[in-house]
Amino acid sequence: MSAEPLIEMIDIQKVYNMGDTQVRANDGISLKIYQGEFVAIVGKSGSGKSTLMNIIGALDTPTSGKYILKGQDVSKMKGDYLAEIRNKMIGFVFQQYNLLPKQNLLENVSLPLLYAGLSEGKRKKRALEVLEKVGIGDKWRNLPNQLSGGQQQRVSIARALAGNPSLILADEPTGALDSRTSREVLDLLKDLNREGNTIVLITHDNSIAAEAQRVIRIIDGKVSFDGKVEKYKNVLKESEEEHGSDTSI
Ligand SMILES: Nc1ncnc2c1ncn2[C@@H]1O[C@H](COP(=O)(O)OP(=O)(O)O)[C@@H](O)[C@H]1O
Ligand SMILES: [Mg+2]
Repeated sequence: MSAEPLIEMIDIQKVYNMGDTQVRANDGISLKIYQGEFVAIVGKSGSGKSTLMNIIGALDTPTSGKYILKGQDVSKMKGDYLAEIRNKMIGFVFQQYNLLPKQNLLENVSLPLLYAGLSEGKRKKRALEVLEKVGIGDKWRNLPNQLSGGQQQRVSIARALAGNPSLILADEPTGALDSRTSREVLDLLKDLNREGNTIVLITHDNSIAAEAQRVIRIIDGKVSFDGKVEKYKNVLKESEEEHGSDTSI
């Protein structure tokens, strides 16, 4: 771990105005994430995960509070500046893969590199390299719908990796997959983390969160737990003993 955090959030608030009422979707979140970590952000539906992910991913900015990403204050950035941070620093992985159906795998993966200004030759070389890394280099000519769900998620992980981002941000990456394929995708993320990639995985599922090194649990827009996964598992076990086997959080 380097001394400077990759991500630092200080008292992040995100308030949505809904007519007369205000929703505090993120209500004073402070956290630090260091390079090389594998962190799960876990919480029930409506707890504020997507709101937090949008801020971490520079898709949105907070109502108040500070968000520093690799030394840069992102909290008040707008439009093109935010887009540049996103393109350069963050690789996104979504539940629904978001692949372009008419483009082959190589094209899907090399597209983000176009925005980075790489030549066609370099884009293709890099795209093939990351497709090989996720184990589907031989399928580069295929269209997304010629692949299984797990393979499509590998492509989306390859696309996220292509630009060498500072952070991989994965939102329910196994949400559309069966348990065996989920296992494979989680193992791939773990491998990528072992190779030095920083990963933030967002999930509503405690058993998925338990795969990370560190867990940050969100309840009602606030951090209710932040610590090592072993400790989180103990917390879950204790609440199971108190409340029966229903481990929903
Ligand atoms: N654009 C929005 N406008 C109004 N309320 C929103 C908006 N986005 C989210 N919310 C509200 O903020 C809270 C947190 O939502 P969200 O961040 O999507 O949680 P999660 O991803 O954990 O399900 C919820 O009460 C939700 O209804
Ligand atoms: Mg959500």
